[in-house]
Amino acid sequence: DTVDWDPEDAGKGEYDHYMLKEINSQPTALSNTIEGRIEDGEVAFEELPAGSFADVETVQFVACGTSYHAAMYSGQLLRAAGIPTEVLRASEYEATSGPVDENTLVVAVTQSGETADTLDAVRTATARGARSLAVTNVVGSTAAREADDAIYIRAGPEVGVAATKTYSSQAVTLALLTQRLAADVPTATPADDRDAMLETLADLPEHVETVLETTTAEQLAEETLDSTSYFFIGSRLGHSVALEGALKFKEITYEHAEGFASGELKHGPLALVTDETPVIAVLTGSGVEKTKTNAIEANSRGAPIIAVGPDDNPLADVADAKLSVPETHPVWAGLLANVQLQLLSYHAADLLERPIDKPRNLAKSVTVE
Ligand code: G6P
Repeated sequence: DTVDWDPEDAGKGEYDHYMLKEINSQPTALSNTIEGRIEDGEVAFEELPAGSFADVETVQFVACGTSYHAAMYSGQLLRAAGIPTEVLRASEYEATSGPVDENTLVVAVTQSGETADTLDAVRTATARGARSLAVTNVVGSTAAREADDAIYIRAGPEVGVAATKTYSSQAVTLALLTQRLAADVPTATPADDRDAMLETLADLPEHVETVLETTTAEQLAEETLDSTSYFFIGSRLGHSVALEGALKFKEITYEHAEGFASGELKHGPLALVTDETPVIAVLTGSGVEKTKTNAIEANSRGAPIIAVGPDDNPLADVADAKLSVPETHPVWAGLLANVQLQLLSYHAADLLERPIDKPRNLAKSVTVE
């Protein structure tokens, strides 16, 4: 007798899908991402020591898909530090970029380092005189080779088409980069809670582990499986988490999902809200009051509310269900909320028997524009 053996399956170990394996490997991936990058309370990249960004005046992030959401997250941190920052969809770079010069740092955020839209945006920016930096998972990738400098996110290989651990490792690497820039750029003002943020980062892998061990995402996926549409909302940092949650959900479940800034729900999408459209509210970081108000609006039109955040979140008394996130610094809490949303998508897709690791029509890295 012979057994069918697919070499692609060999790496999955105890897991049914690479995606679940990769979600579960995030504590290790994040430990690797962080390793050696905070020394004496300062962010240190061996690739780019302190002072490397002393000439930077403005920053542009260019990225696609999930990487764009990771860039959005840290773009807010940079703006909070007083550094003028644009976060641009690479495919729309020409139309959306402001002027650039040699004091502009263009950061290409791309896990594969091969996305054509992102490479094209960086080439355009550098032709106009900007300095470039690639933040990528793949050593020797085109982005890493072409950019002036590269920082590696060290997530390890990711097989599932839907990006999970690379998102988390990108977001953390970019948050660290933000702190390096805030220290280097003369006009920047590092955040008041910078030290607390860097100190609590050491706990992030453990907090992800807690989420993985205690999650109720599978049960929740089952309870909401017959919904017409899934709305993910969040404000500020939570907005980018909501967008990423919705992207992941549609990619692998093939169900309709949209992410919105909480306050935008009432400016149109509310017309779609019924008792068959769960509203998944990201309740981490600042901006949670706005999310609360708008979730309650949807709830009064019948939408079930799923609160994703710490147990004492402002919707705790109203929500129909919750996905819990351990207490930590607000910057890291959003990433924990994202892990819950990854699990929700995974379990919904699994219950629907979708080909999770290779969703139809999608590719891990898109090398055409
Ligand atoms: C493709 C993938 C997405 C990914 C995007 C950007 O569309 O399916 O998961 O987020 O490319 O990829 P990159 O390698 O540039 O991060």
